[in-house]
Amino acid sequence: MTSRVVVRLKSSLDRSYTVTVRAGLLKELPGILARTWKGRRLFVITDANVRRLYGSPLLQALTALGSDALLLDFPAGERSKNADVVFSLHSAILDQGIGRDSVILALGGGVVGDVAGFVAATILRGVKYVQVPTTLLAQVDSSVGGKVGIDHAAGKNLIGSFHQPSAVFIDPLVLRTLPAAEFRSGLAEVVKIAAALDKPFFGRIERERKKILALHPGALSALILRAVALKSRVVAEDEFETGLRKILNLGHTIGHALEAASGYSMRHGEAVAAGMASELHIAVMMGLLKPRDKERIVGLLKALKLRSRLPALRDRQRFSAALALDKKSERGAPKFVLLRGIGHAVIGVEVPTPFIAEAVGVAR
Ligand SMILES: NC(=O)c1ccc[n+]([C@@H]2O[C@H](COP(=O)([O-])OP(=O)(O)OC[C@H]3O[C@@H](n4cnc5c(N)ncnc54)[C@H](O)[C@@H]3O)[C@@H](O)[C@H]2O)c1
Ligand SMILES: [Zn+2]
Repeated sequence: MTSRVVVRLKSSLDRSYTVTVRAGLLKELPGILARTWKGRRLFVITDANVRRLYGSPLLQALTALGSDALLLDFPAGERSKNADVVFSLHSAILDQGIGRDSVILALGGGVVGDVAGFVAATILRGVKYVQVPTTLLAQVDSSVGGKVGIDHAAGKNLIGSFHQPSAVFIDPLVLRTLPAAEFRSGLAEVVKIAAALDKPFFGRIERERKKILALHPGALSALILRAVALKSRVVAEDEFETGLRKILNLGHTIGHALEAASGYSMRHGEAVAAGMASELHIAVMMGLLKPRDKERIVGLLKALKLRSRLPALRDRQRFSAALALDKKSERGAPKFVLLRGIGHAVIGVEVPTPFIAEAVGVAR
């Protein structure tokens, strides 16, 4: 007699979703939401800054259209990406009354998206959620792909889940109120994805850099749309990051260690730009990348006013420990994503320690 039961899960559920990018979309959003989620309770989660700029007007418009919408917020910034904030949102939502058909809307940057997405993934074992990203980083990167979660004292993004949104609405015009340093942080992720996957896109960013920095709506919409298309292709292929999705970690192995060494005072994109520059140096040392290609990428980072070298390391020990502990590492040896050329990244490259030391020392 066998004692085995096979639980045959049918994944007939289509979890595909649409990302809409359009200048002025935020104005149309109340109407779209009221139509799409008619009769369902909508919890808009945002941070204190975005609440003032866009959250309160959105709630007013939704209420005027007869939507059953509620607005919740928490203090802005990475420090809110913690379990206390998540539990207090759970409590507020449970207090106000949530049903299985309720919908959560994440209105804000990557912090809001990660926190609200995690709340949506966990409350009642998961309800639907919609992303309305308002930073460039969230628009080109974090709002698509379904990674949600919070930080832990032991490190960033250590607690979380995969929970794909039901829709993503992107309005490039909201970037007009975004501080310049936050905008540049998002540009680092755009350069990353172009350098890793799409040489013609990389060339277009080079040509359109002035328009991009001037927040030209057409140039920005095209930039966001292409970045999202590239990311969605990768996510569709490898939702749970068992292979190809690791390609999005270009610049992140050293970048994450830099963030940790700065005590997370450094912006994510800033760290990614500096991390990318030193990983380019490693790729050249390893004979993978032509110096000419490295110079071209460094040139674009500079033209976009991004970091192209490592800052002085405040805490070298924490940097090395973070590098060894990097999530992508196996048995203490960090695995890198390195470039063979512009638009051509390779994953899982083991880099000999002297090369890392050289890149960190020399580029400093
Ligand atoms: N889930 C993922 O796949 C993924 C990917 C990359 C990064 N992330 C996470 O994203 C987070 C960083 O996101 P971020 O850079 O958007 O930071 P953020 O969410 O902290 O936003 C940055 C600042 O901009 C403000 N802001 C947002 N939109 C604004 C607007 N339109 N006008 C004026 N101010 C505005 C916010 O209040 C905040 O002060 C990190 O926690 C990172 O781990 C997640
Ligand atoms: Zn990133």
